[in-house]
Amino acid sequence: MQDKYKINKIVKRNQFIEVTWLDKHISKFHFLWLRDNCPSAIHPTANMRIFNILSVTKNIFPKEIDISKTKLIIYWSEKNHKSNFEIKWLRDHCYSQDKKYISPYFFWDQKLKKSFNKIKINHNKVLNNDNHLHQWLKLLHEYGFAIIKNAPIKQKSAFKILNRISHHRETFFGTPFEVVSIPKPNNTAYTADALRNHTDLPYFEYAPGYQFLHCLVNDAKGGNSSVVDGFAVASYLKKNEKDAFKVLTNSYVKFKDTDYTQKATRVLHSPLITLTKDRDFNDIRFSMAAMGTVDVDSSKMKKFYEAYYLFSKLLHSKKFKIDFRLSSGDIFCFNNRRVLHGRTSFDPNSGNRHLQGYYLERDEILARLNYFNKLKV
Ligand code: OGA
Ligand code: ZN
Repeated sequence: MQDKYKINKIVKRNQFIEVTWLDKHISKFHFLWLRDNCPSAIHPTANMRIFNILSVTKNIFPKEIDISKTKLIIYWSEKNHKSNFEIKWLRDHCYSQDKKYISPYFFWDQKLKKSFNKIKINHNKVLNNDNHLHQWLKLLHEYGFAIIKNAPIKQKSAFKILNRISHHRETFFGTPFEVVSIPKPNNTAYTADALRNHTDLPYFEYAPGYQFLHCLVNDAKGGNSSVVDGFAVASYLKKNEKDAFKVLTNSYVKFKDTDYTQKATRVLHSPLITLTKDRDFNDIRFSMAAMGTVDVDSSKMKKFYEAYYLFSKLLHSKKFKIDFRLSSGDIFCFNNRRVLHGRTSFDPNSGNRHLQGYYLERDEILARLNYFNKLKV
């Protein structure tokens, strides 16, 4: 056993026990925390807490503490209860250290185009082999996008590979949604027009985490794709344009959808960039098309538009944007709350262009990745 898992000294203090480990690290374990995490508090198969915190008083304390080679035993002041902790478990769950947050994301810009093969992965390999599935999940989580190559070009056939991860996220567009040019389009995606770089459905409180655009045919003139790492651009702003970054993370902007085929009016206010508790990037919402009439206060409007203009410019700049063309049998997969996508206009009279779109939650990607990474919680 490593020194890290060996106890050198235990002292009972007022509110916690203080454990000094052989590697000199000191852990504080608070009484209620210990009682709450007694191994007997967890259901053996459901793996959920059955202990009710209200079944003890706030003042519960260890009457006595014992250690054996692998266990730390606590005799509690209430209900004659005894807890047997694995010493290793305690060290692994120590919360008395400044845990340095390390971001899982690799930021990228147009230079990635040179090594575009890195983010490509073969359809059948992912379908049939868990190591390739794991690799796909890693690409999605770390780079925020991947291109599946050589998928079948049968309609709805992408369900099969998405179901290797989990169930899809349904929306009022249906699944899959058909990205084709139609008469009287209810969405600009269903025109032959260019789409500026955007994230989909920013007017949902919980915008779809991942999007999959399965290219069935792309024979029309035009209709090239673009992809840009919104987190990389946000990171650039954070470093180089601090004021703009602050405005973009603090200003609540209106997004809306009034699709004429729906009897629903969707409105959501959100900053364009949001952060996590660790101050990492949480999500990017960006769609010139789905942004409503901005209603930030008049005292803040000028600064908002300056920051928004700058953000838009970077999101469409040569420095950050990658242009590429989807071929039939490609599935363009991306984190819709990080990576923006777009297309150039196409001529629907020059040939066929048909993509089928799917959404899936970010939770599902993360949960499957955690599983393959054997994450212990
Ligand atoms: C979409 C979209 C891009 C394309 O359907 O959300 O952005 O290449 N489509 O047609
Ligand atoms: Zn889109």
